[in-house]
Amino acid sequence: MSYPHQIKSLEQYNEAYKKSIENPEEFWGEIAENFTWKKKWDKVSNWNFKEPNIKWFEGGKLNITENCIDRHLAERGEQPAIIWEPNNPEEKTRIVTYNRLHKRVCQVAQMLTNLGVKKGDRVCIYMGMIPELTYAVLGCARIGAIHSVIFGGFSAQSIADRLEDASAEYIITCDGAYRGNKDIPLKSVIDDALIGNKTVKKVIVYTRTRTPVSMIKNRDLWWEDEMEQAEEQVEKNGKVSFPAVEMDSEDPLFILYTSGSTGKPKGVVHSTAGYMVWANYTFVNVFQYQPGQVHFCTADIGWITGHSYIVYGPLSAGGTSLMFEGIPTWPDAGRFWEIVEKYKVDVLYTAPTAIRSLMAYGLDFVNNKDLSSLKVLGTVGEPINEEAWQWYFKNIGKEKCPIVDTWWQTETGGIMISNLAGVTPHKPAHATLPLPGVNPCLVDENGVEILGNSVSGNLCIKQPWPGIIRTTYNDHERCRTTYFSTYENMYFTGDGCLRDADGNYRITGRVDDVLNVSGHRIGTAEVENAINMHSGVVESAVVGYPHDIKGQGIYAYVIYDNKHTADENLTKQDIIQTVSRIIGAIAKPDKIQFVSGLPKTRSGKIMRRILRKIAEGETSNLGDTTTLLDPNVVDEIKNGALL
Ligand code: WT7
Repeated sequence: MSYPHQIKSLEQYNEAYKKSIENPEEFWGEIAENFTWKKKWDKVSNWNFKEPNIKWFEGGKLNITENCIDRHLAERGEQPAIIWEPNNPEEKTRIVTYNRLHKRVCQVAQMLTNLGVKKGDRVCIYMGMIPELTYAVLGCARIGAIHSVIFGGFSAQSIADRLEDASAEYIITCDGAYRGNKDIPLKSVIDDALIGNKTVKKVIVYTRTRTPVSMIKNRDLWWEDEMEQAEEQVEKNGKVSFPAVEMDSEDPLFILYTSGSTGKPKGVVHSTAGYMVWANYTFVNVFQYQPGQVHFCTADIGWITGHSYIVYGPLSAGGTSLMFEGIPTWPDAGRFWEIVEKYKVDVLYTAPTAIRSLMAYGLDFVNNKDLSSLKVLGTVGEPINEEAWQWYFKNIGKEKCPIVDTWWQTETGGIMISNLAGVTPHKPAHATLPLPGVNPCLVDENGVEILGNSVSGNLCIKQPWPGIIRTTYNDHERCRTTYFSTYENMYFTGDGCLRDADGNYRITGRVDDVLNVSGHRIGTAEVENAINMHSGVVESAVVGYPHDIKGQGIYAYVIYDNKHTADENLTKQDIIQTVSRIIGAIAKPDKIQFVSGLPKTRSGKIMRRILRKIAEGETSNLGDTTTLLDPNVVDEIKNGALL
């Protein structure tokens, strides 16, 4: 496979960028020629941001799995598509070739068809990081079922909400998952999520940990049994086949839930053709991937990073994607580097929080490994601080590997602002320049564009790119109000941003009430709702504060009616337990301060600005507090602050 759309020089980048903005139709029409279509598109793009109504490659027919699998079989059927490294280094590695991937995906497609799954049905996938998760995702895509992958760290309640929102009828899960020294009982979480659920018809369970599970008659099925039956059906005379369902370019490919500033996560919907083109184009260009290289993205497929840069990006490029089941610090903090050495990894793509946590363990875990295969390093998920950037550059890349600092979002489908490895220059702690097709701008609170360089503002995008969000599932109006109504005729990212003297972008963080904890997006309102579920809680307010490893930590101010116990610590544990139950362990507050009141304006709005400053350790410059209903609570909160 060659990549005619891979940009090889700064001049080519400038040229491609100019054309993509001035003549997007021609630009993306040419790029789309690099894919396999059942029928070519009639119109490259058709859009307005008002409704919004965004279409790419309208009239085109395709199936993304033919682009990710079938088209590679002739040339590279025996090349590894997936290299799987288990949680426990003593366990055997699995190498999945393109031929094998093809067979397994056909089997899953057949299995789902046998169970009655049809094009457009929603299938929820709640599994650990094992190859079967990729088979499940691609098996859905092969028959046009819409997959909704839920990260293994979410609680039963979160799953129940997502199942209901998507009215999902099918679930694919595992008995359990390994993570470090823990076994996580996934099926049992699903069982809790299904109490009271009215839509789910079948639950398919893959055996990973052989934990005891309750299998409910007529509802729960073992993956192994169903796949065995499907194997006989898809394999005839030694040849495997299962026809890939013909999809319209704009047919939804998947839903992925993400948090916003309201209490309820929303189902971001991505389309088939536009998403495919964007995931592939960004993968090939940002990482400068070369055929045969080993690409190691350390994310979980439960997040968009895993969708785009473990599954769809690398596989659509005929690449080799390394999938890791475990965590960076188990059995020890050398786990990533051991994997790099073992598989001669070329591209390593990880999160700043992982880098910061590994930095803290010192260089003994790094320096005894051979990292000489590395060519490109990447980061994603949150701003990377200069210290972590330098550590990564020096100790992991040995000052030879460019670092791509990739800014993007669940809603953007793929990377939006980043240098292209070795092609456009990197700059520590800067995402640098927009990819072709991305037209960013900075605006002030009134939506007036801020021109020129050395300026800052709210980051918006002025034109659609192929991978842009199409809708929020079941609630198009929410998509419009969240992203397309704050500023007229622009997509609003929710991020604050600086543009330096050379036009490089530096994303500074969210400007809405959304936290970024270890690279995961969590809405403050969502955490507050969960805290408020606890019986003794009267009211709460949640803000972020700088955290050495996580980037942001969760600080909760809680008004508590203390009737049951005088033990404050026990009460805090109760509240933390409640948040784990309602959202999941990822949303647990790091600090809880009990207060008798919250700083509110006369109209009853909580002044988060003040709470944020106190959580950050700032006690003098709190700004104007005279408009507060009761200015005295500020002193009380300041005096009790947990720093
Ligand atoms: C938010 C999106 C995109 C996959 C992972 C997170 C922050 C993301 C960067 C970066 C600074 C970044 C933004 C963005 N973010 N990448 N390179 N530099 N900030 O996806 O959960 O949708 O979160 O993550 O604040 O809005 P997500």
